[in-house]
Amino acid sequence: MQKKILITGGAGFIGSHLVDELITLKNHEITVLDSLEEQVHGKTKKPPTFLNDECNFICGSILDYSLMKELLKNHEIVYHLAAMVGVGQSMYEIKKYTDTNIQGTANLLNILANEDHSVEKLIIASSNTIYGEGKSSCPNCGIIYPKLRNETQLLQKQWDLTCPTCGSVLKPEFTDESTPFNPSSVYALSKQVQEQMSLLIGKTYGINTTILRFFLVYGSRQSLSNPYTGVCAIFASRLLNNKPPIVFEDGLQTRDFVHVKDICQGLILAMEKEPARGQIFNLGSGISITIKKVAEIMTKKINPKLSPIYNQNYRIGDIRHCVADISKAKKVLGYKPLYSFEKGVNDLIEWVQDQASPPKDVSNTALKELSNKGLIR
Ligand SMILES: NC(=O)c1ccc[n+]([C@@H]2O[C@H](COP(=O)([O-])OP(=O)(O)OC[C@H]3O[C@@H](n4cnc5c(N)ncnc54)[C@H](O)[C@@H]3O)[C@@H](O)[C@H]2O)c1
Ligand SMILES: [Zn+2]
Repeated sequence: MQKKILITGGAGFIGSHLVDELITLKNHEITVLDSLEEQVHGKTKKPPTFLNDECNFICGSILDYSLMKELLKNHEIVYHLAAMVGVGQSMYEIKKYTDTNIQGTANLLNILANEDHSVEKLIIASSNTIYGEGKSSCPNCGIIYPKLRNETQLLQKQWDLTCPTCGSVLKPEFTDESTPFNPSSVYALSKQVQEQMSLLIGKTYGINTTILRFFLVYGSRQSLSNPYTGVCAIFASRLLNNKPPIVFEDGLQTRDFVHVKDICQGLILAMEKEPARGQIFNLGSGISITIKKVAEIMTKKINPKLSPIYNQNYRIGDIRHCVADISKAKKVLGYKPLYSFEKGVNDLIEWVQDQASPPKDVSNTALKELSNKGLIR
C-alpha cells in the first residue's frame, strides 16, 4: 500500500538513495526535509542534482518546531536521518552536534508526544560508534568488552587490544546488539541518547519505533566536500588529487564497510516487517576488513602509481576493531547484504570520477584542524 513518508536528511548520502528506492521499487509518496548543511552540500541552497525529482523537497531544519509539526500531521512513516555526522569534529563542535542530533530528535519526539500527528512508524538512523570498541575475546578469560586503549600504550605504538586481567592479545569477535554502550565521541553519545529517547517515547505513546545501527556506509553520493566523514570518500578524493591515502596506526584495525544499497534494503525491511517494532538492529556487511586492505584496493583501482602511507599516528578516541554481527537483522527482517567491498566500491569510484570537476581534496585541512585541537598524536 502506498504510504506518505517523511525522510529527514533525505538530501544526504544515505537519504537520497533511500528516496530513490522508495519511489522506484515501492511507489511511495516521499517528502524530504533537509537543511542542506554547507559542510555537506556546499554554499548552494538548492537540493543536489541527484535528488529524485519525484519527491517533495523542503529546505528546512528538524529544529523548526512549527514546520515539523505541520509535516508530522500528514506523514505516516518517518525516517529520521538528519544529523551532523563527523566523529572527530564532534569533539570540538559540541554544541552543534548536540543541538542537531539530540535537540533535533527531541523536537521530533516532543511533537509525537504532544501534538496531533499521523505517524505510525519511526525509524532512527543510529551508528556502530555507540559500541566504541567491538566485542572481543581473550584466550584465557573469554568474552570481553574492551575499554579504549590507554595513552601510554598508544604512545608506545602498541596498537593491539590486550586483556585487562591476563594481558593476552584479544581476538576481535562479531559485535551483536547486546554489546554495552561505550561511546568515545560526542557524536556517538548523541546517537546513544537519540536511540534511548526514541525507544522510550515510542513505547510510551505506542509509536512503532525501530533503531538501525549502521556500520561504515560507502557508495556514490557520499559527500566529498565534507572532510570529516567516510574514510572511503576521503581516500577517493585524495587519490584523484594525486595524493596517497593516509592510514593511521599500522592499518590492521578492522571495520565493517556496508554498501549504501544494502543499508537501503535494511531501512525498507524495518518499515515493512512488524517484528521490527521496538527493536534495535545492526546493519553492516558482517565482513571484517582492515583499513590497510581498503586503502590498497582503492589505490589499485584509482591511482595505482601511488602507495598508501601508514603514518603510525593515532587519533584520540579511535577504536581498534568493530565488525557487525548481523544475525538478528537476517533472522528477524530477512536482511541479506549483497555487496562485497571489492564490488561495491566501484560505484563510489565511478561516481567520484564522473564529477564535472575533480573534487577538491580537503582532507589535509581537516587533519590540520584535528591536529591543532590535539586529537591526533
Ligand atoms: N555514513 C555512514 O557511514 C553512517 C554510519 C552510521 C550512521 N549514519 C547515520 O546515517 C544518517 C545519514 O548519514 P549520511 O551519511 O547520509 O550523512 P549526510 O551528511 O550525507 O546526510 C545527512 C543530511 O542531514 C542534513 N541535515 C543536517 N542537519 C540538519 C537539520 N538540522 N535539519 C535537516 N537536515 C539536516 C544534511 O544537510 C545532510 O543532507 C545520519 O543520521 C548518520 O548519523 C551514517
Ligand atoms: Zn585474559
